[in-house]
Amino acid sequence: MRNVVILAGGSGTRLWPMSRDDRPKQVLPLAAGQSLLRVAYNRLSGLVDPDNIYVCTVGAYTDVVRKELPELGAHNIIGEPARRDTANAVGLASAVVARNDPDAVVAFVGSDHLISPEDEFRAAIEHGFEVVEARGQSLVTFGIEPTHPHTGLGYIERGAAIEGTNAFVVDRFREKPDRATAEEYLATGRFWWNSGMFVWRASTVLNVLDTLLPESAAKLREVAAVWDTPARDATLAEIYPNLRKISVDYAVMEPASQGKVDADVVVVPMPVHWLDVGSWAALADTYEADPDGNRTDSSTLSCLLDSHDNIIVTDDPDHLVAAVGLRSHIIVHTQDVTMVCPLSDGERVKDLVAQVQSDH
Ligand code: GDD
Ligand code: MG
Repeated sequence: MRNVVILAGGSGTRLWPMSRDDRPKQVLPLAAGQSLLRVAYNRLSGLVDPDNIYVCTVGAYTDVVRKELPELGAHNIIGEPARRDTANAVGLASAVVARNDPDAVVAFVGSDHLISPEDEFRAAIEHGFEVVEARGQSLVTFGIEPTHPHTGLGYIERGAAIEGTNAFVVDRFREKPDRATAEEYLATGRFWWNSGMFVWRASTVLNVLDTLLPESAAKLREVAAVWDTPARDATLAEIYPNLRKISVDYAVMEPASQGKVDADVVVVPMPVHWLDVGSWAALADTYEADPDGNRTDSSTLSCLLDSHDNIIVTDDPDHLVAAVGLRSHIIVHTQDVTMVCPLSDGERVKDLVAQVQSDH
């Protein structure tokens, strides 16, 4: 059976102070007034039976997810008691889905993307399902045409075309290379960005984790074995927070592309406009720029004198942000926090949040 798991446990700290623990990025109205999670769910329409759509998130977000997607059945929310990154989230969801269906094929999609046209997204995922069903032990990724040497993404080098499909063998998977490496990759014309979406059999990824992250694999199977019993929450709480924190890209995709496991890595192109809404600079790409290159979201009131190339956001439509002589800065104003940062330090908002948390 085909399933889709939406990964929605990220903290979205680079969009602080708008993204907060009680209102994480996934549920903020960042997609033309809708949340990224709602948009991620709606774009799955027609792809699989809604009973087979799961949202995998950290426990603290379970309530916000339920509120945002009231149509989701209680058993379709998989809650992790702690954030242990995507290798463990993928392993847990795979073990849970496989307990009733050992042949389950699962697509994992993110909850932080804007994608258009959605038909092309669905066609690519559909093809991913077909490739896995036809080939058996394949790990399917989806490639996005890169536009610049972004250092916050994974890169996929495509190899030979696979006959009878629209897929290619992956010669190399490299997570978050440095800038010089990303530039080299782009120059070859053979690399795609990793979309952060995957399709595989649940059993394949569990076998792969047995080799690459054996402790997690064994523990996650223990959890799945008691999933339908009253022992579930206690077992999860005891086991999960102690798992090694690592993403699926580092734990699975990089070593699998080096032939270290009994599964092949394959890429299906996804010809879409795709944006990972990871930072203020990325989000601001969706805003209109004024003639001076200042970008504000539609509800932000601003008065900017002799100011260029700034990003200005407030969550209060009655609050005016005024600036003079300001160049290339981000200003985000919320009810309790105002954040100011040079555009070039946008990726360091994460560090700022850590500092604020330790100071306050
Ligand atoms: N359930 C759960 N638990 N979900 C998580 C966790 C976790 O511990 N950590 C992250 N997620 C979710 C996020 O909400 C997001 O939807 C997705 O998993 C990816 O996590 P990110 O933290 O946003 O990863 P990234 O953007 O740095 O990198 C990944 O995505 C890129 C594309 O957006 C990688 O797969 C890159 O290779 C890829 O290019
Ligand atoms: Mg991301």
